[in-house]
Amino acid sequence: MPGPLLRARQGERIAVRLENGIEQDTALHWHGIRIDNAMDGVVGMTQPPVEPGAFFDYDFLVPDAGTYWYHAHQHSSEQVGRGLYGILVVDESESPDVDADHVLSLDDWRLDDSGAIHESFGNLHDISHGGRTGNWLTVNGRGNETLELGAGERVRLRLVNTANSLVMPLRLPDWPAWLMALDGMPLKFPVEVTGSLVLGPGQRADVFLERPADVLDADLAFLERDQEIPLVRFSHASARDRSPRMLPPEPLTPNPVEPCAEKADASTPLLMRGGAMGDLDRARYRGEMLDTRALIRLGKAWSLNGEVDRPGEPLLTAARGSTQEIVIENRTAWPHAMHLHGHHFELTDSLGGAGNPGSSPVLRDTVMIEARETLAVRFRADNPGDWLLHCHMLEHQAGGMVTWLRVS
Ligand code: C2O
Ligand code: CU
Repeated sequence: MPGPLLRARQGERIAVRLENGIEQDTALHWHGIRIDNAMDGVVGMTQPPVEPGAFFDYDFLVPDAGTYWYHAHQHSSEQVGRGLYGILVVDESESPDVDADHVLSLDDWRLDDSGAIHESFGNLHDISHGGRTGNWLTVNGRGNETLELGAGERVRLRLVNTANSLVMPLRLPDWPAWLMALDGMPLKFPVEVTGSLVLGPGQRADVFLERPADVLDADLAFLERDQEIPLVRFSHASARDRSPRMLPPEPLTPNPVEPCAEKADASTPLLMRGGAMGDLDRARYRGEMLDTRALIRLGKAWSLNGEVDRPGEPLLTAARGSTQEIVIENRTAWPHAMHLHGHHFELTDSLGGAGNPGSSPVLRDTVMIEARETLAVRFRADNPGDWLLHCHMLEHQAGGMVTWLRVS
């Protein structure tokens, strides 16, 4: 791991045969791609499971440029937790002005004393608390990474959080840096990065970083309370020195995403409850009302609108092309990373940080919602099919935080 880096140009077709060589059934999801529903990789909704020894052919178009990823979407906590994922880069038809382009997939692992993957998958403590977090961080599958940069070089970093549940606060070197895209989608204006950048599970950030002349080497680091764990070292390669660009980067070309209507056609509340220190007393599971004790015995700890796991009925049914608002109320003591398949949300709130132009909406396929926070998201429901909406903390997903919606 990670799996092969898949790379295509915007608008091209990708054909991948998944061969199942493991002992569990599986399927592949193409995270963030506004994909044909039949290729979305959700077992029981868009395709049958791929049994051990069997195969499935994925074949789809990639409408948007940017940084995406693919991962197992069956028994995700264990399969992604053991490394069944890879990065999918879709290149712009016109390449942006950078000297190099680096993919950095960041993960954390729970290892036992021998250094093997800890077998504690699916335990209730992880499910009902902050998910499976680890004790070992990797970059592209290694303990750390070194990238060589000449003075004056400007490079594109594609940061991907592939961890099961870990929220990653990252600190870039104190060099000129611009946030260019989130979850694949270009920002209207590059935003200067000062201080830290937080990536929730499943989220991506494209950053342009420029090495000034006459500086010491520096790191990209993971911030853990009061310590910094270096992940990527930017070392100096004088053979690559070049005269610096005098201007900040131009924004990346926007993707062909239809913006939301001024006024949403419908608004749907989504109430999150459960987990440790939560107030969940009962919820419906497979059509049956169960109390917390019974749910816990089944390994379930979370509900969305009173339902545990994917309910029989969709959260909402949207007419194709309508603008939908979902008001997510997190009445739990934990942050969550809500991911919508097949679409990106439009967020009207600001990014924060210096240089932020403020009111231009940001598109994301995975949005962090802090404990006790309420957040309204909107999207243009223009991709027909049945789509999952779930927490991308994979143990929370396993513990019940899954719903779906229908675009007709
Ligand atoms: Cu990246 Cu439904 O998942
Ligand atoms: Cu969650």
